Amino acid sequence: EFMREISGLKVLEQKLKETLNLEDVFIVSGDSDESPWVKHEMGRACVSCIRDRLAANTIVAVTGGTTIAAVADMMQLDCKNLHITFVPARGGIGENVENEANTICAKMANHTNSDYRLLYVPDQVSSEVRDSIVTEPSVKTVLEMIRSANLVIHGIGDALTMAQRRNTPETSWNTIVEGHAVGEAFGYYFDEHGHVVHKVLTVGMQLEDLQKIPHVIAVAGGSSKAKAIQAVIKQGHTSLLVTDEGAARELLKGI
Ligand code: F6P
Repeated sequence: EFMREISGLKVLEQKLKETLNLEDVFIVSGDSDESPWVKHEMGRACVSCIRDRLAANTIVAVTGGTTIAAVADMMQLDCKNLHITFVPARGGIGENVENEANTICAKMANHTNSDYRLLYVPDQVSSEVRDSIVTEPSVKTVLEMIRSANLVIHGIGDALTMAQRRNTPETSWNTIVEGHAVGEAFGYYFDEHGHVVHKVLTVGMQLEDLQKIPHVIAVAGGSSKAKAIQAVIKQGHTSLLVTDEGAARELLKGI
């Protein structure tokens, strides 16, 4: 705390909290674009945020990506008596297996002595497949749990980086570029005003579901993600942001 005080992180947190209109902001020192270990520091910060917000029978929904994978690596809590269940927020949206929401969800559950459920939905499904898969009893139960989550931990990505990482088909790629998308979260691509310009067709949590969820925690850092973070937060559902100094300073520059 003392180190954070003298390094000015507390002041940055306060400024960012006010400008982005968030319930709380946590900033770790460094820039994860330059130093990969900073992601694990964000992970550690995120775990302490979660610890204070876990009540009995909490359902925690998580997304994929390397940052949330770092949260899972740092998660060492014993929640045996709390009966927590981890679920992936949405179906497969094109991540490598170690960075997939399913993998992260299982890892978090193992590190906390909790339960988990997985969602087996192929990446970027057609609407026919999606409509029939959601009626499968095993999928349906998990979808209901996702919708009743009380806490969400999600990543944020730069729009074009994410579109590329997911081998996005050409038509969607064009929509993303022409719509000037800058940020991505939950399979939704946002422009700088926070408007959705494209959405990956998969099942699970929808943007409107976030409205009912008391704790929506975004974990994202690196100065290259500043625009993306701002765009995703503009849509108004995030309550807490865990970020790094690199992103925070860049974000405040543009305001
Ligand atoms: O694909 C899952 C996801 O959470 C995206 O919604 C987000 O844009 C991305 O991962 C962030 O990934 P990373 O933490 O690796 O930058």
